[in-house]
Amino acid sequence: MIRVLAIDDEEPIRRLLKKELTRKGFFIDTAPEGQTALSMLRDTAYDVVLLDIVMPGPDGISIMKEINKDPACPAIIVLTGKATVETAVEAMKQGSYDYLTKPYKLEELVILIDRAYEFRRLKIKNLLLEQELIKKEPILDFVGKSPQHKELLVLIKKVAPTDSTVFIYGESGTGKELAATTLWRLSKRSNSPLTALNCATFSENLIESELFGHEKGAFTSAYQTKYGIVEVADKGTLFLDEIAEMPLSLQPKLLRFLDSGEFRRVGGNRTLRADVRVITATNKDLSLLVSNRMFREDLFYRLNVITITLPPLRDRKEDIEELALFFVNKYNKKTSKTLKGLTKNALSKLNNYSWPGNVRELENVIERAVILCEGDSISEQDIFLPSSSQIKYSVPQLNRLEDVEREHILRVLDETSGNQSRASEILGIERKTLYLKLKKYGIDIQKSKS
Ligand SMILES: Nc1ncnc2c1ncn2[C@@H]1O[C@H](COP(=O)(O)OP(=O)(O)OP(=O)(O)O)[C@@H](O)[C@H]1O
Ligand SMILES: [Mg+2]
Repeated sequence: MIRVLAIDDEEPIRRLLKKELTRKGFFIDTAPEGQTALSMLRDTAYDVVLLDIVMPGPDGISIMKEINKDPACPAIIVLTGKATVETAVEAMKQGSYDYLTKPYKLEELVILIDRAYEFRRLKIKNLLLEQELIKKEPILDFVGKSPQHKELLVLIKKVAPTDSTVFIYGESGTGKELAATTLWRLSKRSNSPLTALNCATFSENLIESELFGHEKGAFTSAYQTKYGIVEVADKGTLFLDEIAEMPLSLQPKLLRFLDSGEFRRVGGNRTLRADVRVITATNKDLSLLVSNRMFREDLFYRLNVITITLPPLRDRKEDIEELALFFVNKYNKKTSKTLKGLTKNALSKLNNYSWPGNVRELENVIERAVILCEGDSISEQDIFLPSSSQIKYSVPQLNRLEDVEREHILRVLDETSGNQSRASEILGIERKTLYLKLKKYGIDIQKSKS
């Protein structure tokens, strides 16, 4: 059904249009003035707008300019009194589809609406085709020239058109999210959105209802039925970031969904289906989590059908220069600067650094350099890197935290004379978790007692 919005300040005209066009099989809403119309346009996807020109408040021409800001806006037909034919000509210039003088003949108006509808349909089809073309352009923002990067791109291109689950692994800041986006852009599903869910940002309880939705009344605050992300992403692609944080309790349900596309909303007993391609990513070593029973083995194998590993930046130094120039350009645009690039010394400073924060860290360093730079190229003085003493710490830092944890566990076990239940209470973790940690740190409970 063609959806029409008529904007006219005269009530009798609105009433007449509503009556006649409804009878002719159109869906029609009316608005008495511009502001109301614009807010209705934001809420409902109309195909055709009938627009009066002379109105109190914003006139037809300015409303039209506003409507036309959206490339997928409805087709506009101007309905105008005889005296304002000149304004109607102006309206045509501003991009209205056609105009009709009042009083109009109903048959004529109906034909015009049908044509305007067809016109808009073609326009939108064109827009989509254009977007397709843009997508087919070479990938410009996934930068690199190292052999590792080239290999990565070959792999991404190979797996993108399939519907397989893809697992992306890499240290923080190596470009996992960008790789996922690139994969989606090159996939058959690129016309449907890429929906992302970061598993680390939701509590264990919330994540299930985020993912699969909940039925009204499923829990105290579930006032309404909520669609899960898998339903919203139906026919599209779902990016589950930081998959290592997926609660153990939810993992069987995710596995079932990956195997069959079937799921249930929280508090619901209907089995629903969604057709979603899943991409996951993490910077954790999942196999280690599996051996510590923190991640289900069956899910691990299911996710691992295809693994894309993003190497750390320090292992592909050939990419540094190209990435740095790419970011200089990016931040030139953002800051309206015209820096040419980097001096030789600046570049060798970048090349001699170990980049524990990978590409993200490089991007931040360049952003800052672009802002600070007063010459026409970035020099080594513009580049701020943590001092070498800090660099030494930046990688093993994680291990040191583990050392602290190990020490602390040993202390508590000592205090509790090796009583694991007591110890886990004091530590605020479950016994099972304590047990896993003891195993991980190789703590022998017998020995620690003595
Ligand atoms: N090859 C690349 N070309 C251009 N930009 C890149 C490239 N790799 C990463 N970046 C940029 O670096 C930043 C960090 O990348 P991204 O967010 O994808 O990393 P990540 O691996 O998901 O990090 P985290 O583990 O912290 O979530 C982003 O701004 C991204 O656009
Ligand atoms: Mg990320």
